[in-house]
Amino acid sequence: KSCKNYFNRKPPVNPEIKKDAQKVVDSFTAEEFKAKTAFCRCWRSANFPYCDGSHNAYNKECCDNVGPLVISAKAE
Ligand code: FES
Repeated sequence: KSCKNYFNRKPPVNPEIKKDAQKVVDSFTAEEFKAKTAFCRCWRSANFPYCDGSHNAYNKECCDNVGPLVISAKAE
């Protein structure tokens, strides 16, 4: 890849979400899911733990390919 940050970057996985916590854990019950819910896996969402699309800018900047975990209440 041509991105200069690709091989030399070693940032923390989580740059700023709940950094005062020893471990970031989010728990849900199955009843809380909407018909379709996307959970952030890039740790850049302003609406964490939900995906807000911030992974697109992160992927472009860091030559990465992360995306959300999408859970649907029913199979599509
Ligand atoms: Fe993090 Fe979409 S914003 S996966």
